[in-house]
Amino acid sequence: MNFELTEEQQMIRQSARDYAQRELIKDVLERDAKAEYPAHHVKALAELGFLGMLVDTKYDGGGMDTISYVLAMEEFSKVDSSVSVIMSVNNSLVCYGIEEFGTEEQKEKFLKPLARGEITGAFLLSEPNAGSDATSQKTLAVDMGDHYIVNGTKNWITNGNTASTYIVIAQTYPEKGHKGINALLVDRHAPGISLGPHEDKMGMRSSDTHSVMFTDVKVPKENRIGEDGFGFKFAMKTLEGGRIGIAAQALGIASGAYERAVRYAKERKAFGTEIINHQAIGFKLAEMHTRIEAARYFCLKAAWLKDQHQPYGTASAMAKYYAAETAMYVTTEAVQIHGGYGYVREYHVERLMREAKLTQIYEGTSEIQQIIIARAIMND
Ligand code: CAA
Repeated sequence: MNFELTEEQQMIRQSARDYAQRELIKDVLERDAKAEYPAHHVKALAELGFLGMLVDTKYDGGGMDTISYVLAMEEFSKVDSSVSVIMSVNNSLVCYGIEEFGTEEQKEKFLKPLARGEITGAFLLSEPNAGSDATSQKTLAVDMGDHYIVNGTKNWITNGNTASTYIVIAQTYPEKGHKGINALLVDRHAPGISLGPHEDKMGMRSSDTHSVMFTDVKVPKENRIGEDGFGFKFAMKTLEGGRIGIAAQALGIASGAYERAVRYAKERKAFGTEIINHQAIGFKLAEMHTRIEAARYFCLKAAWLKDQHQPYGTASAMAKYYAAETAMYVTTEAVQIHGGYGYVREYHVERLMREAKLTQIYEGTSEIQQIIIARAIMND
């Protein structure tokens, strides 16, 4: 077993750290307050090669491994998960889905500009009545011969407004249940697409989240990803990798809050000494540090399995479950260590706590991850 990172992995982590600590940090509080889309940061991440970092170089991506992706996601998420979620959705839900299951024509047309970061993508699975219960898709993609006609509503769509390419999961044969679902590449600006208002979220306030309505939207048949009826398996396979990204995001949120808590505990004095010298605080930091290290190993293990082309679905569910729970625990403790200062915006930890909450919900709630892990145990 080798715990060492390669030189390339260390360089990628350093590059993400430099950008996050120098640039992202500057306006994160203001963007959070105004719920303002981080357009200039998305452009910068594209130029640095992060938006398509996992895509093969032959499709204009960075050709980097999943371990590097985890390292970069952690660094960006220490500072601002509104930005890292855009990177995560683009890389592991949209680009991965097309690269792994798309045709050469789809890769040429859709994947290359996404991998270069010229445009971003969105993954449209959730619906008003199909969140955790993802097989209950009500959006219809009716087969019209050479094209589909799509009608329905998707909810909570990250990059809903700013994406240029959507991957839409929709039902073609309701009588077949999940075996009748398809995944379609859809132009965000196709006639018949309209958006709900920007969601006023608790955390990750500056990523753009919308509901998306489809009214008689025409989608060419050649935009279907995979065989007829492959859409649900496509979504599940794609989410396996997506969850590594969100696990790494949760890890970053926890690390960011922990680093701030340690700094504060070494400076703040109470009862005649820095508060880190009080056992009540020392024990909290010890617990936070230990859980973060454990979450890191879960993330790296899932990433390593993916890079080795070994099954990684259960490992990614464990990583997401544990890292999200850790993020919630650590950020809550970080606020507590900061006392009253933790409860105000300028100390960042309350924002990290709000961001942590979302990692327990999206790309499969903690309870969904437990279902996946429990089923793996049953089938073992
Ligand atoms: N890989 C391949 N196939 C899979 C699979 C996987 N990981 N998981 C399930 N399947 C297949 C099953 O084998 C089954 O196919 P067969 O009948 O041919 O065997 C089919 O899919 C249905 O599976 P289940 O019977 O297990 O279905 P279920 O109804 O019990 O649900 C679930 C399974 C795991 C709970 C699933 O519904 C799920 O993951 N729900 C959560 C959805 C989710 O994560 N949503 C996130 C939205 S995206 C998002 O948040 C993005 C963003 O913007 C940030």
